[in-house]
Amino acid sequence: MLAAVRHRFAGDAQVTVVEHDLSQPLPDLGQFDVIVSSFAIHHLDHDRKQALYEEIYAALEPGGVFCNLEHVASPTERLHHRFLAAIGYTPDQEDVSNQLLDVETQLGWWRELGFEDVDCYWKWLEMALLIGVKPLA
Ligand SMILES: C[S@@+](CC[C@H](N)C(=O)[O-])C[C@H]1O[C@@H](n2cnc3c(N)ncnc32)[C@H](O)[C@@H]1O
Repeated sequence: MLAAVRHRFAGDAQVTVVEHDLSQPLPDLGQFDVIVSSFAIHHLDHDRKQALYEEIYAALEPGGVFCNLEHVASPTERLHHRFLAAIGYTPDQEDVSNQLLDVETQLGWWRELGFEDVDCYWKWLEMALLIGVKPLA
């Protein structure tokens, strides 16, 4: 992924690629209008997910938006197996680094942090787009 992103943005002076292990606190990169994550945070343990969301909230400007396209947990084991079958996987082929968490818990954390307009804006089985907005000051 790092090689791909460096190739994609090679020569684009507006893009800076920063390598960082999300299991560690975010570096101070300044304040942002938009923070986007795609299918990455589900690899972190649940405590780290919650702490990261707090760090993301702090790094947003007032009115800033956080979008997390995420692999989330199914409500039941049967639905989990249906999801795996739908993407052509058997349970044996599942990525053992996945640490899936349900949508409701994550949206609840975001609301507790102060995010507004928090919702799951799109979902297909275990794939979900979660969005929250930091209130204007
Ligand atoms: C399923 S891939 C998604 C890749 C890409 N973001 C996308 O949406 O197509 C999961 C990505 O999470 C990254 N990842 C897993 N654990 C990570 C961590 N602790 N810190 C940073 N990235 C991590 C992996 O390196 C991989 O690039």
